[in-house]
Amino acid sequence: MGQGYGRDYEQGDGVNTTSNAFIHEVDGERRHVLRCTTAAVALLMGSHTLTASAAAPVKGKPLGFTGVPVSSADALVVPPEYEAQVLYRWGDATGIAGAAAPAFSADASNSWQEQLLQSGMHHDGMEYFPLDKNPRHGLLAINHEYTDDGLLHSDGMKTWTADKVRKSQAAHGVSVIEVVERAGVWRVMPNSRYARRITGHTPMQFSGPAAGHALLKTAADPEGLHPLGTLNNCAAGQTPWGTFLTCEENWNGYFSAQDKPNPDEARYGLRAKGFGYRWHEFDERFDAVKHPNEPHRFGWVVEIDPQDPTQTPIKRTALGRIKHEGATTTLSRDGRAVVYMGDDERFEYIYKFVSRDKVKPGGYRANKDILDHGTLYVARFDEQGYGRWLPLVHGEGGLNAAGGFASQADVVIKCRQAADLVGATKMDRPEWVAVHPNTGEVFVTLTNNSSRGKDGRMVDAANPRNDNIMGHIIRWREGKGQGTFAKRLDGDASATEFRWMHFALAGDPNAEKAEYRGTIKGDMYGSPDGLQFDAGGLLWIQTDISTSAMHKGAYKGIGNNMMLCADPATGETKRFLTGPAGCEITGVSFTPDRRAVFINIQHPGETASERGDPAQPKAVSSWPDGPTGGRPRSATVVIRRKDGGIVGT
Ligand code: FEO
Ligand code: CA
Ligand code: CA
Repeated sequence: MGQGYGRDYEQGDGVNTTSNAFIHEVDGERRHVLRCTTAAVALLMGSHTLTASAAAPVKGKPLGFTGVPVSSADALVVPPEYEAQVLYRWGDATGIAGAAAPAFSADASNSWQEQLLQSGMHHDGMEYFPLDKNPRHGLLAINHEYTDDGLLHSDGMKTWTADKVRKSQAAHGVSVIEVVERAGVWRVMPNSRYARRITGHTPMQFSGPAAGHALLKTAADPEGLHPLGTLNNCAAGQTPWGTFLTCEENWNGYFSAQDKPNPDEARYGLRAKGFGYRWHEFDERFDAVKHPNEPHRFGWVVEIDPQDPTQTPIKRTALGRIKHEGATTTLSRDGRAVVYMGDDERFEYIYKFVSRDKVKPGGYRANKDILDHGTLYVARFDEQGYGRWLPLVHGEGGLNAAGGFASQADVVIKCRQAADLVGATKMDRPEWVAVHPNTGEVFVTLTNNSSRGKDGRMVDAANPRNDNIMGHIIRWREGKGQGTFAKRLDGDASATEFRWMHFALAGDPNAEKAEYRGTIKGDMYGSPDGLQFDAGGLLWIQTDISTSAMHKGAYKGIGNNMMLCADPATGETKRFLTGPAGCEITGVSFTPDRRAVFINIQHPGETASERGDPAQPKAVSSWPDGPTGGRPRSATVVIRRKDGGIVGT
């Protein structure tokens, strides 16, 4: 990816240069208990925990749909018994009550003020919130991860102005839209009292241990309590109390930092000119040389109440500052909130937060500060399928003044450094986390890591392949007491120990090199990213093969990005859809009756440089508007079975 524009994966080599061990040895007692990780874990966990009997009944035959082949076509392809409807494209009116509903200009000439009332670009994580007894009337909260400024403005970045910076910022953030189905057709409600846009400029608030800390104070906000905007909102989550958690991923790319960043800046990938967004040229806030604390105000999980368009979004600092990929919330056995989170970069870590308090009935109003008090942990994956959650708590495990952490605020702001210090396991780009609705088993995508095995950064039990360009999916079950593991592995999400195994190593069984072939049982894929269980216990997997790798080398036979469905009981995996040219498939949320699934087509038509040519905007794709459209557009799509049945069966 030429300029490292929207993201930084293929060029960047990871910024974790710590000397943390790559293989975590286990003690002798456990070592002789087990020799063969996966088989032994299955045995110890009891096959019922990993097989069909644990899953909620799937009405109809699981994976009963007709699988689709790989595709290089510029089309969204779904099984013949399904239909897909484009619902909300970049530039479509958000439907905000009392505001204008500007039409999209196919030549991208909409002003930044119009963009504030329209869908942002590059749709990503998304959650559906039903509004009433009708399962097919609800709100969609949709992330807009980043922009392609080659397509966002009529002449791309040829000229560069303050208005273009404002438009780019307005096309970031989140949309909340109201949607309803009638007679099989979905539409976005105009003039909705819920609809809103949240952007890179929306006033927000800090809460939790870092709120008001000196490192969060800036000239414009001397209290360190009132940040502006959210950026690079990638994956997301829904809480049991009805809020949307949106996650700030590659926020470092928007800042222009000093030529030689200090160690704390370097640990988060800050660098001169960032990823080339050029915002700092007209918005001084993004000049990190002048405003070195502004980057501390990003990298958080942000809580949004989709039901209240006047709510100030809250950056929850207790959940740590990383490149947040997702925030998947479940409940512990005693009713506390547990949030699983990935830090998506090569050799970064997996985290979880366990709240101090129990979730109370009464929605957001009753749980307004539940995410402000609790314990943040980072994962260590040991050999033979053991794992441990290491607390990131000030005063414990060397996280003290001598270690560079004067308070819990320091721990959460410099979360990566804290995780380095306690000895977390470096993973192959942790992306989405999915929790099985019945067993509580946790699945995580590790998208890829072509640097694994290079420069002494060796494979380990959890990340077992050198040059891991295909990625893998890991699964675990939490429980107390490793000595009596089999009896006490109760799946309690608040536990500090777990047993893990691989669900699949991704790859193409026909690949020339053995290490690219993988272990998928069924249809092949590479670079798994989006991951979500439906309420019936089927696992939905979405891929993010970067446009610079797509159709090349070992990816030659894998085609465009796709979504698959897997039965975790059997491992059987079937391809459900393939996306148009140059897109990523991401975002997946179901109506409660599972008669409809919403997904996002992100950046159709993206070039290998991740920046389109405004002279030929349709060089790669003209999806979804086709020949009459001006340029490709990211979009939310709703998919249903033609007979109205349950999706995935
Ligand atoms: Fe935005 Fe890690 O994908
Ligand atoms: Ca992602
Ligand atoms: Ca990704």
